Amino acid sequence: MPSVADTFTRVADGYDRLNRILSLGLDVFWRRRALARLRHLTGEGADRPLAILDVATGTADFALAAARCFPAARVTGLDLTPAMLAIGERKVAAAGLTGRIALQVGDATALPFSNASFDAALCAFGFRNFPDISASLAEVVRILRNGGRLVALEFFRPRSALLGAFTAGWLKCLSSLFAKSRAADYAYLRASIAKTCSAGEFAAMARAAGLAVERNEFFLPACSCLVLRKCDKL
Ligand SMILES: C[S@@+](CC[C@H](N)C(=O)[O-])C[C@H]1O[C@@H](n2cnc3c(N)ncnc32)[C@H](O)[C@@H]1O
Repeated sequence: MPSVADTFTRVADGYDRLNRILSLGLDVFWRRRALARLRHLTGEGADRPLAILDVATGTADFALAAARCFPAARVTGLDLTPAMLAIGERKVAAAGLTGRIALQVGDATALPFSNASFDAALCAFGFRNFPDISASLAEVVRILRNGGRLVALEFFRPRSALLGAFTAGWLKCLSSLFAKSRAADYAYLRASIAKTCSAGEFAAMARAAGLAVERNEFFLPACSCLVLRKCDKL
């Protein structure tokens, strides 16, 4: 079976384009909306420097949006797949944000950062790819300062069989039209949605890891957004 990194290496070149097509451009809006939730909850304006980690940053869309939303923040983007990061590096340079966004290779289940070193962590469409979601949540909790927040955007397992069938059909139809040569890779991505946890199961794992659920929203038509806070006691 191909590794996750092999799959994302093969799809890296067309990843952004296909993301926009499959989500009808909504993925850009979902990331911005999730960051607006974080800004509202933290009450952070432009002034306080924040350390933000974007886990599974891929081509750095969430990292770029975070740097724009929090103009005094330093953002670190981490990902398993160098080919995705190479595209992210080009986008960061084109945006003139190399001084504020640093990208690096790493594994979400063994984050190469010291305890309590970030104010916030982000993860968009990453968790369902990780081999052990609880282990990656434990790592996020370890690197967050107390009171720090995790914002997770994810296509969790759909709530109903009907919605699941619709999502799978939509992805299959559009990816076979626009990414015919990568059919097997996009079949993996569809399967990862069908077999991952539900948003409720993810929230339960997050609570067990030491995160309080502050928001658990559904961004129509397909995306869950959770904002979670690291607490001493739940
Ligand atoms: C669907 S992409 C999401 C990319 C990006 N966050 C976005 O919003 O478009 C999933 C990413 O997770 C990365 N990934 C998968 N397993 C990982 C792991 N164990 N540690 C870090 N990154 C991982 C992949 O390389 C890929 O770039």
